Amino acid sequence: MLNFEFKNPTKILFGKGQISNLANEIPEGSKVLMLYGGGSIKQNGIYDQVTAALKGYEVVEFGGIPANPEYEILLKALEVIKAQKIDFMLAVGGGSVIDGTKFLAAAALYEGNEPWDILAMRIRTEKGFPFGTVLTLPATGSEMNSGSVITRDATKEKLSMGGPGLFPRFSVLDPEVIRSIPARQLQNGVVDAFNHVLEQYITYPAGAILQDRMAESILQTLIEVGPKVMKNPNDYEAASNFMWACTMALNGLIQKGVPTDWSVHAIGHELTALYGIDHARTLAIIGPNLYKYKFENKKEKLAQFGERVWGIQEGSIEEKASLAIEKTLVFYHDLGVQTKLSDYTSEYQDTAQFIENRFKERNWVGLGERQDIQPGDVFKIVEMSY
Ligand code: NZQ
Ligand code: ZN
Repeated sequence: MLNFEFKNPTKILFGKGQISNLANEIPEGSKVLMLYGGGSIKQNGIYDQVTAALKGYEVVEFGGIPANPEYEILLKALEVIKAQKIDFMLAVGGGSVIDGTKFLAAAALYEGNEPWDILAMRIRTEKGFPFGTVLTLPATGSEMNSGSVITRDATKEKLSMGGPGLFPRFSVLDPEVIRSIPARQLQNGVVDAFNHVLEQYITYPAGAILQDRMAESILQTLIEVGPKVMKNPNDYEAASNFMWACTMALNGLIQKGVPTDWSVHAIGHELTALYGIDHARTLAIIGPNLYKYKFENKKEKLAQFGERVWGIQEGSIEEKASLAIEKTLVFYHDLGVQTKLSDYTSEYQDTAQFIENRFKERNWVGLGERQDIQPGDVFKIVEMSY
């Protein structure tokens, strides 16, 4: 096991009815900026629950944060924070609203001139503006981690940021929010969380027995409850397990003491930036091909994944590893998620070259758990994904 430090300060309020308790977590007398997305919360009752819980606070609203939170829109929210002298932010939404709020938490205290530099120059946020979240869509884990991914449409970029100042002070996880989530977003949630575990697990053996078993148990839980939630979003037991599995997949715990990959995400973000493909679907496109391309590096963990998660008992390490990739593809297809770039766009022909060039320009050399994925490898992986 590798050395590590671990601190996760986010308080979780989990379960039915917990939205009503959120005021206990916000300092008395605060002027609160409530941030949300395209308006789903106004149809499903979450808006009413949150505003009722915020009674007694002065509340300013900022709605309209789109999926793949857009920089230019967030700059407008930044003006509101400053002009209205906001003390606390409350994100009510999925990963996009929460990530947008994290960007604001960094930008509100940033002393440079151009907040985009936080992303372009990878400036870590040590101290952030305080915020909490009400999660409406289990998927990203953003509700209990300190990462954020922001889109800039003008330049077709989608870049990550983070730092210890960006953990939410608290997050409310009420599994009943799942009842109104459309099938497409439920599919995305299962596939995103599944890939978060894979990025921290399909690497090489590091003698971290407990972390491996925690990762495998999250994968098994997603395989078990994902289809149940898809079939019946009112199934509270399935919904609660789905929600907690998504949070546990990316709250930092399973990555401690082990090598991590994250190259599937780095490449996938380019596909969202270029074509607007939902984040999770980009992972379903890239992941299996990256595992085929880096097969020699990853075959031991792939075989372990095959044995323990997919129940493959027969065959050599190579056979188990290959079958594990195939079973993963079948899982995505059964959920209704397509796995080729050409399933999503007909304009894919120059994608591999474009991404290779971009990674070269950014000097993104040496991705993956062994830092051995070069831009030329990225070209080949993307080309395999057509
Ligand atoms: O905009 P609204 O009206 O809220 O509708 C949203 C949106 O259209 C809808 N939705 C959310 N909760 C709902 C609901 N509809 C009905 N009922 C509900 N209860 O779902 C749509 C998608 O929402 P979004 O927040 O975009 O989805 P998700 O949570 O999958 O977030 C994706 C974003 O997170 C980033 C992705 O790159 C992407 O930008 N990620 C963030 C990570 C992190 N911070 O740790 C890690 C991930 O790997 C990922 O990169
Ligand atoms: Zn993801």
